[in-house]
Amino acid sequence: MLTLKKNTARLIADAVAGGFGEDLLSAEEIFSMLEYPPDKTMGDIALPCFRLSKSLRRSPVQIAETLAAAIKCEEFSSITAVNGYLNFKIDGTAFARRVASEVLSLGDKYGSPMNGEGKTVVLDYSSPNVAKPFHIGHLGTTVIGHSLKLLHEFAGYRCVGINYLGDWGTQFGKLIVAYKMWGDKETIEQGGVDELVKLYVKINNAIKDEEESTEDKKSPLADASRLEFKKLEEGNEENLALWRWFVRVSLEEYQKTYELLGIEFDSYKGESFYTDKMPAQVQLLRDKGLLEIDDGASIVNLEKWNMPVCLILKRDGSTLYPTRDIAAAVYRKNEYNFDKAIYVTAAQQSLHFAQWFKVVELMGYDWHDQLVHVPYGTVSINGAKLATRTGNVILLKDLFAEAIARVKEIAREKHSDEAELQQIAEKVGVGAIVFYYLSNNRMRDINFMMEDALSFDGNTGPYAQYTYARTCSVLEKVGREGVMTDAPLNDLEVELAKTLSLFPERVSAALADSEPSVVTRYILDLCASFNRFYHDCSIANCEDEKLKDSRIALTAATNQILRTALHLICMQSPDKI
Ligand code: ARG
Repeated sequence: MLTLKKNTARLIADAVAGGFGEDLLSAEEIFSMLEYPPDKTMGDIALPCFRLSKSLRRSPVQIAETLAAAIKCEEFSSITAVNGYLNFKIDGTAFARRVASEVLSLGDKYGSPMNGEGKTVVLDYSSPNVAKPFHIGHLGTTVIGHSLKLLHEFAGYRCVGINYLGDWGTQFGKLIVAYKMWGDKETIEQGGVDELVKLYVKINNAIKDEEESTEDKKSPLADASRLEFKKLEEGNEENLALWRWFVRVSLEEYQKTYELLGIEFDSYKGESFYTDKMPAQVQLLRDKGLLEIDDGASIVNLEKWNMPVCLILKRDGSTLYPTRDIAAAVYRKNEYNFDKAIYVTAAQQSLHFAQWFKVVELMGYDWHDQLVHVPYGTVSINGAKLATRTGNVILLKDLFAEAIARVKEIAREKHSDEAELQQIAEKVGVGAIVFYYLSNNRMRDINFMMEDALSFDGNTGPYAQYTYARTCSVLEKVGREGVMTDAPLNDLEVELAKTLSLFPERVSAALADSEPSVVTRYILDLCASFNRFYHDCSIANCEDEKLKDSRIALTAATNQILRTALHLICMQSPDKI
């Protein structure tokens, strides 16, 4: 109803100018005061006039009455003043005609705020750590990140999706030591990341045992690991070759998960890429007098901003996570000249981002305010908490495989063709998980319940896809798209049109708050409106031809928006389930 809300604000602004004087209130100001009353008997749009009292120096009751008398518009069946509220009731048929026609003429552009033209956003998301498990904790960054990319693309931005692989760091020293002691080439080629993780877990446990068995907590294996990593950093060929191999094996496996989700990255420049780009930034920090030595380490003091120090160089001169992020941001600014750089990570990293964003500001980079951190809450599964270091984790690929297998069981009776069954099961199984995850506000901690995610009758992905497939089958049956006619519409039809018209503002809200769940919840609203309409109003068998045309058009508009909306939250929309 965004267009209607905007038009209404303009009408009111004109009436205010006419009745009270020019330049007292702009249409934008009025727009922000308009509400959708929860109780629809009051009206479809309302203006609480007490908000205008101060600017107009009149009582809310007086204002409401003056405006009610002054405004005329055919899309409203009534405009009334009630207790200081100005209530607008929509003329359903006229309104629905305009909305559905607009959806059908704009097609897959309907809902786009079109405000990204000429602007670039880079999105840093997913970014797993090589040779560590790609687990359910990464679901958030992967699907929130990708959905934000799709939302920005939809708004017309040029988008660069970056997988900032954790492909550098002391874990590689450990892995090299573990591989040389226990590893086997063939096993790793076959088993992929799982085998690397096993080695990684094994050496971590061994290091822990060593530390616990001596008084001074010394571990020769930890020392050896540090040494191997140092050799790697110094360009030792043997270690470099192993490292490249570990990265390749891991990436090949992540790709399979990305493929299931329909995700492609524009860049895989990981942490290692920035090794030679850090010294210049460290030098700049030094030149600006920002570096302090603290117990041998180089830090930036952030006390004034109530944050702990930001570590730039360790005592032995090696760089850290923030150092690399600073270098990467500078590189990306030069490379892509972004207007916005979004980082999607677990909320545990919020302090890290706040710290290095501040450091970038102190360094004098005027684009520091274009850096945006988008955090999200934790995930547990069926009540079980996740442990990372011990290997006791739920891998993303296993989560998806499980969902796909379960959907296959349910859908088997309807699909005799095995290849078709597999395809449907992938779209529905993966979609179910994505939908379930993206139903919640991103900051909420969620407990993942597989049964709930896969159910066809709750507010789930399968239910949304099923509703979409239903619109497809109706349209296939009638064999045409329909047009909105002047046949009078009933409440359910008008209600559906209202829900259709909410899509643009939901998209804008999702973008403004970096919150894909707004789109997910909108999909559920639209499915509910459509299903109510579908159960009560016959479409293919409607005898009144004009009404039938309008109903088909409403179905086609629902079909269009559901497809767009599902796409925006990284979901497929199969025609049949
Ligand atoms: N690899 C990191 C992790 O798994 C996430 C990287 C996030 N991006 C960034 N630019 N720091 O925790």
